Amino acid sequence: MTTRHFLSLLDLTPAELNAMMDRAIEIKTAYKQGDIFEPLKNKVLGMIFEKSSTRTRVSFETGMIHFGGKALFLSPRDIQLGRGEPLEDTARVLSSMVDCITIRTFSHKQLAFFAENSSVPVINALTDDFHPCQLLADVQTYQEHRGSIKGKTVTWIGDGNNMCHSYMNAAKQFGFTLNIACPEDYTPYPEIIANTKDHINICHDAKQASTDSDLIVTDVWASMGQEEEQKKREIAFAGFQVNQSVMQQARADALFMHCLPAHRGEEVTADVIDGPQSVIWDEAENRLHAQKALLEFLLA
Ligand code: CP
Ligand code: NVA
Repeated sequence: MTTRHFLSLLDLTPAELNAMMDRAIEIKTAYKQGDIFEPLKNKVLGMIFEKSSTRTRVSFETGMIHFGGKALFLSPRDIQLGRGEPLEDTARVLSSMVDCITIRTFSHKQLAFFAENSSVPVINALTDDFHPCQLLADVQTYQEHRGSIKGKTVTWIGDGNNMCHSYMNAAKQFGFTLNIACPEDYTPYPEIIANTKDHINICHDAKQASTDSDLIVTDVWASMGQEEEQKKREIAFAGFQVNQSVMQQARADALFMHCLPAHRGEEVTADVIDGPQSVIWDEAENRLHAQKALLEFLLA
């Protein structure tokens, strides 16, 4: 059997993704009732993080503990990869010992190369191009609050970045319409636009994109690795803040999401992110439950 990886949402079928969302909600309910469920006893998850993380790292580690397994945090500063050991050698050695590997890194191509050389499932914990684990939590959160996301209208406001790309893939896989409002110089990758064109609309006006939307989503203006562009981006994105006047264009029952960490007063105002339409804390918590469903799917 070929090894299944989770490098982007396109690695799973729509049916598998939908089943995973239902399963995430079941796993969460059982966990909250105090049920002990240990399908990954003696299984080990290796975790390589080349960028900072709070939610992703803690949710994977905690998920493995709940499931009776163990997670190893592997900082490139400590493993030989950081001293130049080839990626393919690292993949081959690690995958001969652990049962699954999650990686947060810069280059998506390098992640894919690692996966090609791994004999166990590899999970994308964020690259410059995609953040698929976050989308599992976001779709689960929408489903819990409003029912199925299929047929809904979602609006992405801000950078055409890794999160935006993952929302584009999610629109295709889960069957919703994604309106994207981004500055002209910060559009998503052309190949991802081409692959999702039947499910997305791109414009450069936040209010227009938000009209009658069911869910408004944004992210930081400068992602990890772009810190030196912060000032330039603050100018470019000035018209792309999610504030009350943007939220008022959306449906009255629209939700607001943000993957976090957030910069209040930049991409979103405090009254929106801390207001009644925001579901960011459920969204963050669901990283744990959605990824447990993912780990179960790949490993159990
Ligand atoms: N949303 C998210 O991935 O958060 P971390 O960077 O804290 O993992
Ligand atoms: N776009 C952000 C997401 C952080 C979870 C980044 O890549 O830094």
